Amino acid sequence: MQSQNNNAIYITTPIYYVNSKPHIGHAYTTIVCDVLARLHKMLGSNVKFVTGTDEHGKKVEQSAINAGKTPQQFTDEISQLFRDLLTTINASNDDFIRTTDSRHKKAVAYFWKQLKKSGHIYLGEYSGWYDIRNEAYFNDDELIDGKSPLGGEVTMMKEPCYFFKLSAFQDKLLRYYEQYPNFVYPASRRNEVISFVKSGLKDLAVSRTTFSWGIPVPNDEQHIIYVWLDALVNYITLNGYPENDKLDDEYWKNVVHFTGKEIVRFHAVYWPAFLMAANLPLPKQIVSHGWWVSNGEKMSKSIGNVQNPSKYCDLFGSDALRYFMLREIAFGDDGNFALDNFISRYNSFLANSYGNMCQRVLSFIYNRLRGAINQIDLDAEYKAQTNEIEQIIYKAYGLAKQYQFNKYLEKIEHATSLVNQFIDLKKPWAIKDNDTLLNKVLCSLLTSIVTITKALSPVIPIAASKLLSFIKIDNNTIHVSQPEILFHKIDPEQKFDVHG
Ligand code: MSP
Repeated sequence: MQSQNNNAIYITTPIYYVNSKPHIGHAYTTIVCDVLARLHKMLGSNVKFVTGTDEHGKKVEQSAINAGKTPQQFTDEISQLFRDLLTTINASNDDFIRTTDSRHKKAVAYFWKQLKKSGHIYLGEYSGWYDIRNEAYFNDDELIDGKSPLGGEVTMMKEPCYFFKLSAFQDKLLRYYEQYPNFVYPASRRNEVISFVKSGLKDLAVSRTTFSWGIPVPNDEQHIIYVWLDALVNYITLNGYPENDKLDDEYWKNVVHFTGKEIVRFHAVYWPAFLMAANLPLPKQIVSHGWWVSNGEKMSKSIGNVQNPSKYCDLFGSDALRYFMLREIAFGDDGNFALDNFISRYNSFLANSYGNMCQRVLSFIYNRLRGAINQIDLDAEYKAQTNEIEQIIYKAYGLAKQYQFNKYLEKIEHATSLVNQFIDLKKPWAIKDNDTLLNKVLCSLLTSIVTITKALSPVIPIAASKLLSFIKIDNNTIHVSQPEILFHKIDPEQKFDVHG
């Protein structure tokens, strides 16, 4: 993780519930974080990128019972599926946490004690509507058609319970959002968070006695620590807490938590309040993305429209899935996942535009020039061409760093189409008896292909490293080995099984 440039970035995905196997929505959050992590690494930052599974709570306990397994067996199996997904989608995470890890249990217990010590936790009694699926209590006035606002079935429950003094943080949080306007991103989510906090914060129930699958409250073991408090602490466990108990390191100063839009409240209200109460520094930013539906409908096992990321990767490669998910929607918006859109984007850019550009130039050099050209200084006209591509790519990086992934890819697509136009204009295959000119044309084309491929490498790491491996520079000679087709065209009429 060392580099000359001393800026650090710490990127986290939410940790995934283990009550069912991963689908395209889970793959999306990880892919977004992975692309950003790879991009920052390439641009010289020290990157730490982490993910994991959220394994405690009543819901998991129930799912395990339904499956005839112990919670430990059950979580071992499903957590493994999430780990497997990381390999499948080619994620470059530096660590993987399970909330059942002993390092995490230790961090949560220590964190709890800090909250207790600073006087932010007290014992009381809780009654309210409990949404088991989402592990959250709601008041009468929050229910919608008898269900929780998160859509789960609710039951009335009453229990002795520890409370966190969330109400004490209302003004502090509002001041914080004011002082750091980019803390919650995008602005639409920031506005939601601010109006939620302004509407009044009540103290938060942070222990449960109705189940046992979780981390016990230190010194009062029939209470289990609220699963969201447990889960949020993962971000500091992964940063060496409690040994690193002040969190005054470069990674924590630059931590960005990625979340889906439905869990912003937990990350942008509860988590900062917990950290303030424990006298710890807050994360740099909470970034939230939208939701994918499948063929226009919410994904559901009963409809049978759950898009399976592993099937896409097996059929078309992880590069293709990564590219599609980032290109298809503006980051932050909801999106529709449909196979025909996937195929048409794949064919139009990866196969026909980028893949074809690489194939045309490299196979020409390989077949017609025995795989070698001279590396030369380009004259003004050709330099202008490669500079134009570099300028576009430079802007693309700026957009990606701001999470505008679709615009970043649009810029790269534009650069690629300019190179294809340049090939058509210069027609290397028609240049006869002018080796100097031919060399110049090909040298400028290869330069631009490399610039574009590097820019694409965070998104399509497999194809990019393959392409770069075909080109070697040695003593002012550029050697090109026999290129392979990077993206085979997909027949849009063919039927594929991508669900389940
Ligand atoms: N366990 C909590 C997070 C705790 S973080 C301290 C959780 N888990 S989750 O498995 O339900 O969701 C994890 C992530 O997957 C969220 O960012 C969520 O938005 C994302 N997605 C799950 N389904 C999704 C879609 N259909 N579309 C896009 N992302 C969605 O919440």
